[in-house]
Amino acid sequence: MNKQQLARIFAHPPELVTQRLILRKLQVSDYADMYEYSRLEEVTRYLLWDPHPDEHYTLRYLDSLQVQYRNGMCYDWGVVWRENGKLIGTCGFTSFDLPNNRAEVGYVINPAYRGRGVAPEALMAVLDFAFNELKIHRVEAKYINGNDASRRVMEKCAMTFEGILRGYLYVKREYRDVGICSILADEFKSKFGNTRFYSRRHPQKNSGLLNIFNKERFFT
Ligand SMILES: CC(C)(COP(=O)(O)OP(=O)(O)OC[C@H]1O[C@@H](n2cnc3c(N)ncnc32)[C@H](O)[C@@H]1OP(=O)(O)O)[C@@H](O)C(=O)NCCC(=O)NCCS
Repeated sequence: MNKQQLARIFAHPPELVTQRLILRKLQVSDYADMYEYSRLEEVTRYLLWDPHPDEHYTLRYLDSLQVQYRNGMCYDWGVVWRENGKLIGTCGFTSFDLPNNRAEVGYVINPAYRGRGVAPEALMAVLDFAFNELKIHRVEAKYINGNDASRRVMEKCAMTFEGILRGYLYVKREYRDVGICSILADEFKSKFGNTRFYSRRHPQKNSGLLNIFNKERFFT
């Protein structure tokens, strides 16, 4: 895959539908839902950005993303709770290293929806998309040391902990150690075989889409 092909895909990111979620392009009209969690210090504690100061800031941010989408340079999906249509977070790729066929992922979920396996459900769809559609070789994820919930999400998605990058990030006036996890295409395929973690259309209720996130056996 080259830069132009990647840009073409993400200029119109496909909708990925899972058991409880829809991953779709972020829209300016999501600003109130996004502000609801982006304003919280508990959400941004382990992120590179600070809480959004007001709804206008969130609106302008989402507006700037539309330009990035048009240029095929935004690789993030909005995570929507299917039951009520509310935007409850984001999940997607933070960067691609195309010469090495590598991608990095990230996610944020509204604390009101925390602890229900939402991030793993969204991340599995993104990993499935990375390996089966984009044909990526390696997906990695990093977390600031101490963000145990995020590391848990990576583990639930069968990513392997590789170690701690010491003093890797200077963030919020501090050098922080960063943990790194990854999964390779072969590992994903041997672990999950032909299981698909999203569909591209809106399934009916009880469509039979696999909800692995209620099943302990995947939470290794
Ligand atoms: C990290 C995050 C995405 C997890 O999302 P989630 O949808 O709650 O994920 P899960 O439901 O699978 O929970 C993951 C872990 O979070 C922890 N957790 C769950 N509910 C929690 C709560 N109410 N308070 C604190 N931690 C909680 C548990 O350790 C859980 O692991 P377990 O299922 O083995 O018990 C979410 O907490 C978040 O958005 N945090 C702020 C942004 C962030 O740090 N993003 C990651 C950047 S690397």
